[in-house]
Amino acid sequence: MNTWNDHLQVAIEAARLAGSYQRHRFTSPLSIELKGDKDLVTEVDRESERLIVQQLLNRFPDHSILAEEGSCPHSESPHCWIIDPLDGTTNFAHGFPWFCVSIALEADGELVAGVILNPIHDELFTATRGGGAFLNGRRLRVSERSPLKDTLLGTGFPYDCASDPVNNFDNFMAFQRAARGIRRAGAAALDLASVAAGRLDGFWELKLKPWDVAAGVLLVREAGGMVSGFDGSEYSIFHNRILASNGLIHGEMATMLERVASEEAA
Ligand code: IPD
Ligand code: CA
Ligand code: CA
Repeated sequence: MNTWNDHLQVAIEAARLAGSYQRHRFTSPLSIELKGDKDLVTEVDRESERLIVQQLLNRFPDHSILAEEGSCPHSESPHCWIIDPLDGTTNFAHGFPWFCVSIALEADGELVAGVILNPIHDELFTATRGGGAFLNGRRLRVSERSPLKDTLLGTGFPYDCASDPVNNFDNFMAFQRAARGIRRAGAAALDLASVAAGRLDGFWELKLKPWDVAAGVLLVREAGGMVSGFDGSEYSIFHNRILASNGLIHGEMATMLERVASEEAA
């Protein structure tokens, strides 16, 4: 029996609760606010977070929470839940059916459990540390595709990409030339789950937050993939540059990102 299985089950229940609420509210009239120039938040983001946090704290009242919409009760507990209640808010608000709930658990600073639920496609991605990664109960393995020129990659752009020159545009152009294709699907957690499932061979992005990546990072690692900083360095979910891949193309992707950075600096 996996040590983190009970925690995973509670996270799955919380994700399903929020997921069915999101499915029910998808395409219904919404109250939408702007957090920044392009960064939306809807009543569904906030209510999903409330449902998830309530469910987790019901079962684990002394645990800490780090969640995107601001529910952050902090305790001395070594356990912290990291939650993106709705990843892909822009998609959700525009009726584009590609978004998810993402919930991860850290224990003593290590990712130990992760759940990503795509409620429209009814796809539940789960992982526990040392216990493997699964999609609807079927074991996941990253792809075996290489070299870079034969691969399909994922990425995204920060909300401040129009005003800040650190915006990923140059990396995008370089990889668009070098790889078979790139998808910008609009939900970083699902991009990482797609690497774990072998649907994408690699993913990179900058300025992501811990809740965008926590569950997805565990999924990729448990599916046999690699996660690092852009230069291949050790990764933490608090770093703002992430490179994830099937491992086979990791070196080629890191070299490309370093080359673009040095050209930008020159
Ligand atoms: C966003 C999505 C998107 C990524 C953005 C994130 P949100 O999260 O993951 O794919 O490119 O940087 O902020 O705002 O939809 O939760
Ligand atoms: Ca997000
Ligand atoms: Ca979100």
